[in-house]
Amino acid sequence: MLAASCAQEAATSAPFGGDPAALVPGPHVPARYSSVSTSRPFVALTFDDGPSPELTPRLLDILRYHGVRATFFVVGKNAAQYPDIVKRIVAEGHEIANHSYTHVALTTVGEDRLREEVCGTSDTIERITGRRPTSMRPPYGANNARVQSFLLSQGMDMVLWSVDPLDWKRPGPEVVTRRLVEGAKPGAILLAHDIHPGTIDAIAGTIEQLKAKGYGFATVGQLIALREPAPAARPGETVQHHASR
Ligand code: NI
Repeated sequence: MLAASCAQEAATSAPFGGDPAALVPGPHVPARYSSVSTSRPFVALTFDDGPSPELTPRLLDILRYHGVRATFFVVGKNAAQYPDIVKRIVAEGHEIANHSYTHVALTTVGEDRLREEVCGTSDTIERITGRRPTSMRPPYGANNARVQSFLLSQGMDMVLWSVDPLDWKRPGPEVVTRRLVEGAKPGAILLAHDIHPGTIDAIAGTIEQLKAKGYGFATVGQLIALREPAPAARPGETVQHHASR
């Protein structure tokens, strides 16, 4: 693994270059997300563990046909092996994000390895695409306060998910589609893996059904930019924080 270059202190990430309508003013403050609080009918399709030399290009064809943007949480060593696929992902308007270098559970490694896994992957992505990712998803979702505070110190969002179709168990495309569609709500982050053929076969149907329900598709960065504060109490309205008796 390459020597990893890490920020020494918290950095603010640049705003994404996507749909201007989705932009909100103000600096990016890194945070932890499993979904995004928004009333707008957008979801984020996310694909982990690639790029895969056969399946990721097939998926990109499907996304392009349907005009849908997604987010790819790539494994650093796979990205280094398939840089042309990484370049294509970015060229077609998708977001590249960090899923560690070797897909290790970050809760099980020491400080130096944590730094190498995260920053080595960001370095690889930046070398290939010219852009440093702003989101990281720990493999297996395995995280703790140490992992989270390291990511936030690097200016990265820690992005988990709100819908898990368990596609890695290969339940068949129809089941994957049904689970993704049934789990969707505004601000949902949908988990899938572009290393399983059945997942790729599920995506066209998933997109069609979600579109039929009125959903649009955002990258994770775009979805985070749609974040809305919790509704404030109107004047004269009492917000009850505790049940009283
Ligand atoms: Ni993974």
